[in-house]
Amino acid sequence: MNFIGFKALCLGVFCVLFVSHIYTPVPDNIEERWKVMALDAIAKTCTFVAICFENIGIMRYEEFISMLFRLDYTQPLSDEYMTVTDTAFVDIPVRLYLPKRKSETLRCAVIYVHGGAFCFGSYKQTASDLLNRWTANRLDAVVVGVDYRLAPQHHFPAQFEDVMAVVKFFLQDKILKKYGVDPTRICIAGDSSGGALAAAVTQQGQNDPEIKHKIKMQALLYPALQAIDSDLPSHRENQNGIILTRDTAIKLVSLYFTKDEALTRAMRRNQFMPLESKHLFKFVNWSTLLPEKYRKDHVYTEPVLISPGFSLPALMDSRASPLLASDSQLRNLPLTYVLTCQHDLIRDDGLMYVTRLRNVGVKVAHDHIEDGIHGALSFMASPLYLHVGLRIKDMYISFLDKNL
Ligand SMILES: *[C@@H]1O[C@H](CO)[C@@H](O)[C@H](O)[C@H]1NC(C)=O
Repeated sequence: MNFIGFKALCLGVFCVLFVSHIYTPVPDNIEERWKVMALDAIAKTCTFVAICFENIGIMRYEEFISMLFRLDYTQPLSDEYMTVTDTAFVDIPVRLYLPKRKSETLRCAVIYVHGGAFCFGSYKQTASDLLNRWTANRLDAVVVGVDYRLAPQHHFPAQFEDVMAVVKFFLQDKILKKYGVDPTRICIAGDSSGGALAAAVTQQGQNDPEIKHKIKMQALLYPALQAIDSDLPSHRENQNGIILTRDTAIKLVSLYFTKDEALTRAMRRNQFMPLESKHLFKFVNWSTLLPEKYRKDHVYTEPVLISPGFSLPALMDSRASPLLASDSQLRNLPLTYVLTCQHDLIRDDGLMYVTRLRNVGVKVAHDHIEDGIHGALSFMASPLYLHVGLRIKDMYISFLDKNL
């Protein structure tokens, strides 16, 4: 078969798969239904192809998906308002957005941690780049987009350590001075798995003697905040959810911890945590932490703990699951912005964090997007942009503009 024929065959197969995936039911209140259905069908088709490739032995599932992510990488493009450069802070790649406007006063700063299930993504992604650029512009802020080592080549805590190292580096007096940043006006933000890292770094930074300047605010956009209970109401309702399905999420999250596929299978059954983790489940007990509106008539079942379980201390580590921090560790957290989406597999992580933080007196601002879907911020560039993505972007940036 010649090359053109091969491409035509691929296109044909893609179309068949696409059509077979387009009938996923989309909730009634979703805007731009056809676009969302098409995006979801593309995501599910890619997942399907990736799994086929893995089963045939062409390449691993995550290699195929990460290849697709890479197609979307951008170069650092300066414009009339902004100098944009790719550089490194202590060997960790960052993209810096420095406003060109002269400023009489010191600027605020945002450290942004991208999402991608700990396995994919970069600040180079078109949507991340736009978000950080718009933030820098609107707030006249210095913005730092952080890349971190990705799974499965690197497991937890590599991701956490990289983000922490960037934060520590940036918060030094000499660096803040170099970029003209006000040490009292710094925000750490992130979406999805980036929200997990932002939350973990904010928690750990509170008690780190090496960090003199404390973060003013954290912004967590549809964050992933726990990996110990995979049977929350949002998991049940969005099992086959738009963009992110329960199967995919579990496959990727378990790659964050280990290459052992037994963890994936056990997580699917929600029977993977060891007996000695019993004391942690009160921190993710959704029957007490979720507002009734989201609990609906779901019935809470006690987790089935196993013995000996996976010998993975990471599963019990609050740097991987920020919801596992005790109340006293949460008490001193800074102002927190949490954005959750109704049609999101991991919605309840964010909702429970809001409850836990408010219970110990942390100032929390919470926006819930009734027609929101997971990953909406990834769809901000034509032709794949969604109004809901742009709306979430506006809410996030407006909050920072008012409060940072
Ligand atoms: C969760 O909360 C319920 C009360 O709503 C309680 O009966 C149950 O023991 C709690 N379970 C855990 C593991 O905290």
